[in-house]
Amino acid sequence: MLARMLTRAMDAQGVWTKPLGDLVHRFLFWLFQGIPALRDMLVGRWLGHPLHAVLTDAPIGILFLVIVFDVIGNPAAATTTLVVGILTMLAAALAGFADYADTDGKARERATLHSSLMLLALLGYLVSLAFRLGSGSSASAGGVFLSVLSFLVLAAGAYVGGDVVYVLGNMVSRHAFRGAGTKWIALEPVEADGGEIPEGKLVKAKLGINTLVLVRQGEKILALHDTCAHAGGPLNEGKLLDGPVVECPWHSSRYRMADGLVVQGPSVYDQPAYEVRRREGGGWEARRQA
Ligand code: FES
Repeated sequence: MLARMLTRAMDAQGVWTKPLGDLVHRFLFWLFQGIPALRDMLVGRWLGHPLHAVLTDAPIGILFLVIVFDVIGNPAAATTTLVVGILTMLAAALAGFADYADTDGKARERATLHSSLMLLALLGYLVSLAFRLGSGSSASAGGVFLSVLSFLVLAAGAYVGGDVVYVLGNMVSRHAFRGAGTKWIALEPVEADGGEIPEGKLVKAKLGINTLVLVRQGEKILALHDTCAHAGGPLNEGKLLDGPVVECPWHSSRYRMADGLVVQGPSVYDQPAYEVRRREGGGWEARRQA
């Protein structure tokens, strides 16, 4: 009941979060596409995990401590903690903006609401800090009031951010629920040249209920799951690069065809890779790599 009310309230913000989100997204997409190394560092490709999710816990915990120090009457500790909280908020925001640059649809609208609330909280904290610094060693009523108010906005922003991940599945691996499986299954290339898989191009193939993307190198067939781990783009419609590496057509994540290793973001997850061999009696069969 409460969740439905909150969802309706968030959806109602679409009148401004959609146009604003599209505008900001255009800028961030342009910015981060131009510096992929920075984007990859901020999204957390090096960690194999979204960095934003790791960083967001710090400001929430630290900024709650500001309230605790205010309540127990230690304004100096509250001010120092507030400075640390603001710095960790800025770090989390940088990582969040890198995620936002490749967020589409409803998730982009929600992410716009989330980041707007976080920026509002940040502004409140900065004004609170100014009040505190202006009042010397004594407690500032305005500073205390603003940090409590900002924490409420921060908590609302965190709720919306949780929705982006847990409800809309943004930055969740598209293979989170896919089992490994060890059975060899007949592989059916959608495009076969006289029964053979053509060389030097990406080829789509069915493997039971799964779709794979293949590259043939002589007798060797390299295969990955076709659904991009980042947001579900069809890899068979992407580009084949040297390596061989496949580039997703949606946000340009790149995966090594031999083992699915992600070599360029925004994906932070490796892609499921498959072994392929000749089948007795003709054709091919495949199974997921261990
Ligand atoms: S869906 Fe985003 S990079 Fe593939």
